[in-house]
Amino acid sequence: MFKRRHILKLGLGSLFGIGTLALGRAKCLSKKIEALDNPNRKFTVIGTTSLKERAAAKGLFYGAAVRINSLSSDKQFIANFVEECAILVPEWDLKWTSLRPNASSFKFTYADSLAKFAQAHGMLLRGHTLVWEQSLPKWFWQDVNSGNVVQILQQHIQTVVGRYAGQIHSWDVVNEAIHINDGRTDGLRNTRWLQLMGPDYINIAFQMAAKADPQALLVYNEYGLDYDSRDDDAKRLAVLRLLEGLKSKGTPIHALGIQAHLKGDSTFFNPQKFRSFLREVAALGLKIIITELDVLDKNLPEDIKKRDRIVAAAYEEYLTAALQEPAVIGVLTWGLSDRYTWLAEDNSSGKLLPLPFSLRPLPLDADYNRKLAWNAIARAFDSAPRRQSEVGEFILK
Ligand code: G3I
Repeated sequence: MFKRRHILKLGLGSLFGIGTLALGRAKCLSKKIEALDNPNRKFTVIGTTSLKERAAAKGLFYGAAVRINSLSSDKQFIANFVEECAILVPEWDLKWTSLRPNASSFKFTYADSLAKFAQAHGMLLRGHTLVWEQSLPKWFWQDVNSGNVVQILQQHIQTVVGRYAGQIHSWDVVNEAIHINDGRTDGLRNTRWLQLMGPDYINIAFQMAAKADPQALLVYNEYGLDYDSRDDDAKRLAVLRLLEGLKSKGTPIHALGIQAHLKGDSTFFNPQKFRSFLREVAALGLKIIITELDVLDKNLPEDIKKRDRIVAAAYEEYLTAALQEPAVIGVLTWGLSDRYTWLAEDNSSGKLLPLPFSLRPLPLDADYNRKLAWNAIARAFDSAPRRQSEVGEFILK
């Protein structure tokens, strides 16, 4: 009896210990997050000119990712999108799953209407994405093998890039090819493409895209390059090595796309470290595009005023640092309004996630009102050095 009671006491004691430790951690975290908020910070903006105009005034472009359903029926959204954005990128409609119902056909309905929309409103158009591990249709996994993969990729790129040749400002040719945890010395993600074509698949895809549209900027797009952390340090190094290797073999690559999916509760952004990475990319003769910027606020306090201030601070700190680098030519947020954000969805199905409160990661709220995040982006453009670039003139033609 004594023994069991003793063990019970020990058990309860250690449970109590773990409990207090967890409680202590939670308290410390919430203190850190509270410290991210400065209630006196106003994010004052001069005038009401749009983000695209503030960007273009500095020779930059600003735009956002968009879905066909938000543009086809939501008139108020369309008006705001046209007012704020000088470039659009289809969030879904240029991916294999959307374009390729089967191995022998293409479905361009939605991509065509987005391209037409961009043209009708004098917007630049980004292509996203030609080679990625995700959003590959079922038939790809069943029917594509090392014997037919090059021909299938060649046909895909020739048809898709060729169709929009001359309309596309820049293509994300390869997306998210680095994954350190897969254990390769080159840091490459063990994707289906790597398994079937070997590490040269990246160079091959860029060569194919350059042939299909010699005008488009060809981009390698990646996430996890933002913070002063061991993981992001390793990923930045692996991406630099990848880019150096591609450049040394003459791959027609023109830019690095930095997705910039930021976390509002992160305290690890180091502007100096981030800027030195940008300088190293620029030293390879590459441009840089911030391609999918948003700030996740899921772990922030529910209080909207506080949450909006913390999100705005993350936007302003990050973009102010990024735009100091002359090689950065433009910024896109991954969505324009909180009404349409991937962060609130299950990415495998597109269905809404059960969240404690509705997220506010983007420049406009769900009713398309400008938020402090909008002010923060506007302030970053207003304080950015002016680029000697033709992009600004094109946008305001
Ligand atoms: O449109 C179909 C609908 O017809 C169908 O009924 C439904 C259920 O299967 O799926 C709908 O498609 C969804 C699509 O988003 C459009 O909403 C897909 O399931 C869903 O997987 C897809 O998620 C997208 C995800 O990439 C995967 O392609 C997200 O919206 C999109 O924001 C996200 O974007 C990625 C970038 O491409 C790369 N960088 C990271 C970023 C966030 O994960």
